[in-house]
Amino acid sequence: MTVDEKPFSQACENNKQPIFDVLGRVLTNRKKLLEIGSGTGQHAAYFAPRLSHLIWQTSDMPINHDAITSWLEDVPVSNLLPPISFTVGINNWPLGDFDAVYTANTTHIMQPSESKLMMQLVADGLPKGGVFCQYGPFNFQGRYTSESNAAFDQHLKEQGCGGIRDVDELVEWANSMNLIEKISMPANNFMLIWQKK
Ligand SMILES: C[S@@+](CC[C@H](N)C(=O)[O-])C[C@H]1O[C@@H](n2cnc3c(N)ncnc32)[C@H](O)[C@@H]1O
Repeated sequence: MTVDEKPFSQACENNKQPIFDVLGRVLTNRKKLLEIGSGTGQHAAYFAPRLSHLIWQTSDMPINHDAITSWLEDVPVSNLLPPISFTVGINNWPLGDFDAVYTANTTHIMQPSESKLMMQLVADGLPKGGVFCQYGPFNFQGRYTSESNAAFDQHLKEQGCGGIRDVDELVEWANSMNLIEKISMPANNFMLIWQKK
């Protein structure tokens, strides 16, 4: 795959620095992170070299592995690992002693049953004190945070995606994780920081 053929997400380019500003702080003492739904691999390629104290494990459905690999090839750092197959609803929680999990813009793509399962798998998979950084659009107390998110949710559902989840719903599914931070991000997104009790 040449550079020009690499899958590219403009949203990733726009949100990578604001997201990194949060991750750089929250992941200070973490050793090994699992990224769920790495997508194009752009986030991993940007974050891992800047978080050299931890191992960054990419993952996604096999169909996205070539894209992720093509972005990782440009970043020759030893703490960034090639994608493993992890599809919530199909695969078991991957082995790897992860003390942190990151996911961006996956919760509203998944079906509600998959989002619920992701919360449960992450909660079960993390050790005590482990953190889960969950980025994307979310609703609060049954309300959209913007008109554009309401339109986006409608669009998602028409495409067969699960749609924007409510934070209260996620709290209910999170079992043994506490929601310790809700950080407002650009473009009507949020970063939710969960910590295993
Ligand atoms: C909108 S993309 C976001 C990709 C990337 N994280 C980003 O922020 O650009 C959604 C991603 O979720 C992944 N995904 C969808 N359903 C999933 C599931 N059940 N388990 C794991 N990943 C899933 C897709 O393969 C895709 O990479």
